[in-house]
Amino acid sequence: MQLPLSLQHALEKLSNEVPLTSIRAAYHQLSEAYHRGENSLASFHRPDHVLAYLLARMPATYAAVYKALESVKERLPDWTCKNLVDLGAGPGTASWAAAEIFDTLQSITLLEQSPPMLAAGKKLASYAEKAVLQKSNWVQQNLQSPFSLPKADLAIFSYVCAEMDCLDLIIRLWKQETLILVVEPGTPRGFANILSIRNKLLELGAHVAAPCPHHLACPTASWCHFPARVERTKIHKLLKEGSLGYEDEKYSYVALSSFPCPALEGRIVDKPLKLSGHVKLSVCTSRGTLEQKVVTKKQKELYRQARDVEWGSELKCF
Ligand SMILES: C[S@@+](CC[C@H](N)C(=O)[O-])C[C@H]1O[C@@H](n2cnc3c(N)ncnc32)[C@H](O)[C@@H]1O
Repeated sequence: MQLPLSLQHALEKLSNEVPLTSIRAAYHQLSEAYHRGENSLASFHRPDHVLAYLLARMPATYAAVYKALESVKERLPDWTCKNLVDLGAGPGTASWAAAEIFDTLQSITLLEQSPPMLAAGKKLASYAEKAVLQKSNWVQQNLQSPFSLPKADLAIFSYVCAEMDCLDLIIRLWKQETLILVVEPGTPRGFANILSIRNKLLELGAHVAAPCPHHLACPTASWCHFPARVERTKIHKLLKEGSLGYEDEKYSYVALSSFPCPALEGRIVDKPLKLSGHVKLSVCTSRGTLEQKVVTKKQKELYRQARDVEWGSELKCF
């Protein structure tokens, strides 16, 4: 996938304001800070670090949220998303993805603690083609201080739950009948956060809209994660000093609703092995099991489906 053209254009404009060497140095410092497990607030008071995040990380987190939202939309075709609240919004990454996925979106509220990040996000949004992004409501807010939550159909926590404990906010929003989407890096730690939120919400009576096809204990012995591929822009390539024309982001996610969701038979939870005459699939099933399936040409309808599925796809019948 590509970033929306208006976002690409906006990022290019911002990057022209700072020499590449400075952005590159800031990017290396930012990566080191992430490896040390520091909270973004420690970095995002510096405009060059904010710009490095916009250019180096925003495309990947955009792709992850986009793919997660695609699954939600596929799972809930009759659900309408009019209002979004984007918590720990950073530069508004998740809101850009939601605006692409949901044509029905009428209002967006973005809550972010870092003033330079908020300023950068507002600037990006001013270049957006979509009116809903242009008129979005940016609020400087520390999510750990008391505040009144906006009423929304959808709340997105994108790459923020590793930085702060989001559970109380998630529960409060879910009790307001808001659909919750949490996206985290596709690492053991990121998945552990997702699983703990999933388990707590299920105890309260929530329904999993995606990715799980069941409400039982998670059967994975490792960590459930999915890939999202995003094309690198010219500046992205220069910054990362990489020759690849794309980047693969691994992410974990869960979408939780207050209403029951249509049944799903299975989801592909690893890269399908498409071989001659057969396909090997790892499937998380509606029975709460993780199954290895070999689908051969003899299973006509299933084979047709298996040839087309990707890691993360739904499996409709098997
Ligand atoms: C890794 S960035 C993710 C930004 C954005 N959601 C995305 O997907 O690109 C984490 C963001 O959460 C924000 N954040 C962390 N703790 C916060 C808090 N207590 N209140 C508000 N924002 C917070 C940081 O300032 C940062 O912008």
